[in-house]
Amino acid sequence: MKWLLEFWRSSIGGKVTMAVTGLLLFLFVLMHMLGNLQFLAGPATINAYAEFLHSKPALLWVARIGLLVIFAVHVRTGIRLATQNKAARPVGYAVDATLRADWASKSMLLTGLTTLAFVVYHLAHFTLGWVHSRDHNSNNVHAMMKHSFGHPGIAIVYVAAQVLLFFHLRHGIRSLAQTLGLNHGRYTPMVAILSLLLAAAIAGGNILITLSVLLGIV
Ligand code: HEM
Repeated sequence: MKWLLEFWRSSIGGKVTMAVTGLLLFLFVLMHMLGNLQFLAGPATINAYAEFLHSKPALLWVARIGLLVIFAVHVRTGIRLATQNKAARPVGYAVDATLRADWASKSMLLTGLTTLAFVVYHLAHFTLGWVHSRDHNSNNVHAMMKHSFGHPGIAIVYVAAQVLLFFHLRHGIRSLAQTLGLNHGRYTPMVAILSLLLAAAIAGGNILITLSVLLGIV
């Protein structure tokens, strides 16, 4: 256990932790978006899917706790690495050496923390019914989504969160590929295109669901 903690505390251990937990979270958001797209197929399809997910409570709780631990480790390690990077270079360069790094790479902490805030809000909304409780209905997920995204304020928060998630995922996928060894010159352009497409598919799929209601298509 001690070696694991020491590995996690090291700089390379921190990067590997971010890559592995980031990959697992990426797989979750991809599966979640694909599952949610069933909303567009109508109430019977998405409600049957939600019922299926809730039909094995023991399994659901193992998955929920696993996801929570992975998410907590990802956030904690990310904050630590960002703080260490800042401490290593407390005074900014006279000429910004990271000029070539784009906005997404420089803003990983910001887009990560906004995603964390979104997830807290999202759980309070759809899972716990603590906010917008009049719309909460875990027995009819289709009605819950339709009523919620019919409010422009809620829809705008969801769309804005997906735009920030897009930037976080695009840079995150590129970084994790590099940390996990896919940084060969031949693969780099391919990884850049793939990370753009995957991040756009996840954010775009979620935005499509939200706008389909807001624009009155569903
Ligand atoms: C427009 C985008 C999204 C929609 C429509 C959506 C929809 C939903 C719905 C309906 C539930 C509740 C399912 C149920 O009670 O049966 C849920 C739960 C959840 N969502 Fe989302 N979601 C979206 C985006 C996201 C994103 C981007 C994340 C993560 C970054 C996320 C993370 C979660 C988590 C962790 C849960 C809890 C799962 C559980 O109950 O254990 N969602 N979502």
